[in-house]
Amino acid sequence: MEITLRIRRYNPEVDEKPYWAEYTLENVERTDRVLDLLHRVKWEIDGTLSFRRSCAHGVCGSDAMRINGMNLLACKALVKDFVKGAKGRIQVEPILGLPVIKDLIVDMDTFFEHYRTVMPYFINDEEPPERERLQSPEERAIFDESTKCILCAACTTSCPSFWANETYLGPAAIVQAHRFIFDSRDQAASERLAILSEENGVWRCRTIYNCTMACPREIPITQLIAEVKKEIGRR
Ligand code: SF4
Ligand code: F3S
Ligand code: FES
Repeated sequence: MEITLRIRRYNPEVDEKPYWAEYTLENVERTDRVLDLLHRVKWEIDGTLSFRRSCAHGVCGSDAMRINGMNLLACKALVKDFVKGAKGRIQVEPILGLPVIKDLIVDMDTFFEHYRTVMPYFINDEEPPERERLQSPEERAIFDESTKCILCAACTTSCPSFWANETYLGPAAIVQAHRFIFDSRDQAASERLAILSEENGVWRCRTIYNCTMACPREIPITQLIAEVKKEIGRR
């Protein structure tokens, strides 16, 4: 099949503003991924095209981009999901709400600052037991969903509340906080909940649900945010 990729390009060193460029590719397979098409553009047509990717298998979270208006991982987005006939177009642009460094690459500093703010690591100052810190399967299940996050930023950059105010910690940071708040072995839940109670924490979530729709790991993000809000109310 023939696919025309419409890509948002921008090189701040030479371009006054972003623009759309089109690249037509022949012999595309229906099962090719959008990442494969980006590689073909870069390797066969224009080597200056810039985008992030690493694992190419939906694990590392580095290639979240906006494909036909939806935040997706380019390595999981199949051509057949966008084009049914022998010919078609697919539009690719950077995720929204973060500054563009070049083409499809955005500056993730704000995203990772918010991530660090919620202390996304295990905290327990007690002397460790002789063997492991025990946890029942039921206790583990409480935070099972939040362990699936790959920090791709698809959720936070699809959230209108984050677009309106980038100081909002955003759904990804709240998912990361959830991971430890509900871990029975961790001792810093109160500190994290205090951080999330602040002006730019969970209360900026207006239950818009875009985050849950965008998550490539199908994490029920809006529900996890609601659990955090409830926990703040309970304490
Ligand atoms: Fe990506 Fe989902 Fe994690 Fe958000 S919660 S960063 S969408 S994996
Ligand atoms: Fe934003 Fe998701 Fe809440 S889209 S407003 S974080 S439910
Ligand atoms: Fe790693 Fe897509 S390249 S998730």
